[in-house]
Amino acid sequence: MRTLWWVLGFVLVGGFGLGYGAGKSLHTERISGSAGDVLEDDPVGRLKVFIYELPSKYNKKILQKDPRCLNHMFAAEIFMHRFLLSSPVRTLNPEEADWFYTPIYTTCDLTPNGLPLPFKSPRMMRSAIQLIASNWPYWNRTEGADHFFVVPHDFGACFHYQEEKAIERGILPLLQRATLVQTFGQRNHVCLKDGSITIPPYAPPQKMQAHLIAQDTPRSIFVYFRGLFYDVNNDPEGGYYARGARAAVWENFKDNPLFDISTDHPTTYYEDMQRAIFCLCPLGWAPWSPRLVEAVVFGCIPVIIADDIVLPFADAIPWEEIGVYVAEADVPNLDTILTSIPIDVILRKQRLLANPSMKQAMLFPQPAQSGDAFHQILNGLARKLPHDNSVFLKPGEKMLNWTAGPVGDLKPW
Ligand SMILES: *[C@@H]1O[C@H](CO)[C@@H](O)[C@H](O)[C@H]1NC(C)=O
Ligand SMILES: *[C@@H]1O[C@H](CO)[C@@H](O)[C@H](O)[C@H]1NC(C)=O
Repeated sequence: MRTLWWVLGFVLVGGFGLGYGAGKSLHTERISGSAGDVLEDDPVGRLKVFIYELPSKYNKKILQKDPRCLNHMFAAEIFMHRFLLSSPVRTLNPEEADWFYTPIYTTCDLTPNGLPLPFKSPRMMRSAIQLIASNWPYWNRTEGADHFFVVPHDFGACFHYQEEKAIERGILPLLQRATLVQTFGQRNHVCLKDGSITIPPYAPPQKMQAHLIAQDTPRSIFVYFRGLFYDVNNDPEGGYYARGARAAVWENFKDNPLFDISTDHPTTYYEDMQRAIFCLCPLGWAPWSPRLVEAVVFGCIPVIIADDIVLPFADAIPWEEIGVYVAEADVPNLDTILTSIPIDVILRKQRLLANPSMKQAMLFPQPAQSGDAFHQILNGLARKLPHDNSVFLKPGEKMLNWTAGPVGDLKPW
């Protein structure tokens, strides 16, 4: 408990200065071992990507109808397309391609309130695959095993925002052999198949940049969180949303002075994260949320509350070293867990977070920059090369079932 008193004392007198506040001597710490090198890998020269040319109704026209898709947390599918079009890894010759990419914006279907609806996505995806399979010989050669798709929905290619329904649907049968590049990641989950690449959700880089405050601003907030604790509309009885973890945060800590938590979303949200030591990143409907990206970018230690979550680029980013994992069942002990972390451990996490390569890997900047999330995706694809011979089917061999899956998905798009 000594640490708790230490922290409380400093919070009460204000000017609690860990990390950025520790003075002018702040230095960043290199990530130990191979992980740091992996983050700095350059994918150029290690893979060639062929981009299918699709009618604009699969991408540009959809975006024209609703430009809000560009700012949505699912926008990685749009920016990845733009990035690849001018990337040096692009090849116009499909015969020399290692990977085939289908530019399709399946998440760009928003309600007037901006909520994405995944109901048309399976039919749209099937339609695009049918098109590439009949117009080019490459799909049939592998049935998609050398193709990758960006599917940044809540539950990836399961195409439903409610977990139960997503599990019931499973990954779209036509995508069973493809490599999925997705935000969703949870171990032993039907919506995450082996070999997938888990990526950060899109958070607007310019907007975040515009809210940066002086690096030596003291971190006077111990724990920070803004967001829902209950989702009364979709989970009236409670307990299902966030598997009860967010409700437990509220019920246990709403009156705790160390916890700055609320449902209000203040205009100083980004600034507040830069004034906080710990930022809670609990699961919501899905295990992931843009908070994780925001926490890393703003140097706030992410407290990850989402059992079995698979974090973005986990083979390159040492999440255990920069963040704190708290089991959903341990939420009632969150205060003790966080106040017992020794100060030198906190300082080390803050130094690692201050490493620019870590922040860079979380962002999809326009234009792209070396080491950013686009490059990490390409690194992930490059590491899967060369393809095993088993990806290539024998003449006449078929593995996918074009009529499998919910009957509704078979209707033309
Ligand atoms: C690929 O296979 C599908 C179904 O098996 C067939 O309809 C299509 O014509 C084939 N594509 C090419 C380019 O041969
Ligand atoms: C393909 O899936 C449909 C629908 O689930 C099923 O009726 C059919 O038997 C399957 N075909 C093969 C060859 O497995």
